[in-house]
Amino acid sequence: MASTRDWFESVAEARRRARRRLPKPVFMAIEAGAEAGVTRADNLAAFREIRFAPPLLADLPATRDLRTTVLGVDIALPVLASPVGAQAVHPLGEVAVAIGTRDAGTAMGLSEFASKPIAEVAAVNPAVFFQVHWSADRDVLLERAETARARGARALIVTLDWSFPGGRDWGSPAIPEKLDLPALARLAPAGLARPGYLLDWLRHGGLPDLTVPNMARPGQPAPAFFAAYREWLAVTPPTWPDIAWLRDQWRGEFLVKGVMRPDDARRAVDAGATAISVSNHGGNNLDGTPGAIRALPAVAAAVGDSAEILLDGGVRRGGDVVKALALGARAVMIGRPCLWGLAAGGPSGVRNVFGLLAAGIDSALLALGRDSVRDVRRSDVIVPAGFSDGLD
Ligand SMILES: Cc1cc2nc3c(=O)[nH]c(=O)nc-3n(C[C@H](O)[C@H](O)[C@H](O)COP(=O)(O)O)c2cc1C
Repeated sequence: MASTRDWFESVAEARRRARRRLPKPVFMAIEAGAEAGVTRADNLAAFREIRFAPPLLADLPATRDLRTTVLGVDIALPVLASPVGAQAVHPLGEVAVAIGTRDAGTAMGLSEFASKPIAEVAAVNPAVFFQVHWSADRDVLLERAETARARGARALIVTLDWSFPGGRDWGSPAIPEKLDLPALARLAPAGLARPGYLLDWLRHGGLPDLTVPNMARPGQPAPAFFAAYREWLAVTPPTWPDIAWLRDQWRGEFLVKGVMRPDDARRAVDAGATAISVSNHGGNNLDGTPGAIRALPAVAAAVGDSAEILLDGGVRRGGDVVKALALGARAVMIGRPCLWGLAAGGPSGVRNVFGLLAAGIDSALLALGRDSVRDVRRSDVIVPAGFSDGLD
């Protein structure tokens, strides 16, 4: 746990601290959604529209049980870290997330665009799920997934919702191709305005190298982030038979991330997915799609018990987690809150964020008279008319 001085009492405070600590381009790189940010904003607004329906004086044990199982891994609370590329908000990056999630008793997704090798991450937290996009041809993608498995991946996540939206109204992140002299000169004013961030990097041996080690071919050096990104853009997007092929080759737990429609949820299950995540990529994908939680009820109805259902996008407090459980999710993933915790306090900041969510889940369960996260029911929440219009 963070020391008392460093401890923060809300996810909103983690975000404020991240904003104060990070150079503006780095903060904005994680903050902004695509284009006008309509979807990003609706991820949050949709949670606020859902209300609780607590009974009085339910007969409850002294403690509530927050444990569940996701992708074959037992976790202490129904919240895990979503895969997020290049976590340069802290020098330890994904290793710090591994420490924080391990200490919180939960699992993490590791993006193929991560800045740390999966072996280092899995050595700290063995509950790690490797995430790919369709970023290479079949053989290279499978080789990448198998390498990750050999180095500790417990499951494969395939993210399908990415359409390369254009500019952001808040400005696109000014992330350089590499940190050469011209780039450093350009970034110097933003960096020097946040000396704590710079010193942290220097204390850990230098500035980020902006490479993606988990995308390296065997025996080759890690490619640069943008080179790998450009290669991905040149790949033809997959078809459902491609996904079914990858799932057959992989043979283990397999999560399709980015599902927003019941027909797609069924296709993912038909392709062999053992889990899906209802997600719009945190509002970083096509702008104007609805908040993720609006899509959850119809997807849950379509999937039933044939796959585990997760949700990510807009989860900021324990009550949000319980709302997602009530509408059919087994667990949720968090993206930005984890990064804010990481920026605010490194590993203990990550642990702090998960601790806040656990406390919030516990108090919502107490109010609702439920003694376990598995007992949360649809009747525990009130969903306004029109909440999911057009999504079933
Ligand atoms: C800066 C940033 C980078 C991301 N990178 C990835 C990624 O590499 N792979 C992926 O599947 N999702 C990625 N995501 C999406 C997250 O996994 C997750 O879907 C989203 O952040 C959830 O919304 P939230 O930030 O409101 O919690 C990224 C999100 C952000 C904010």
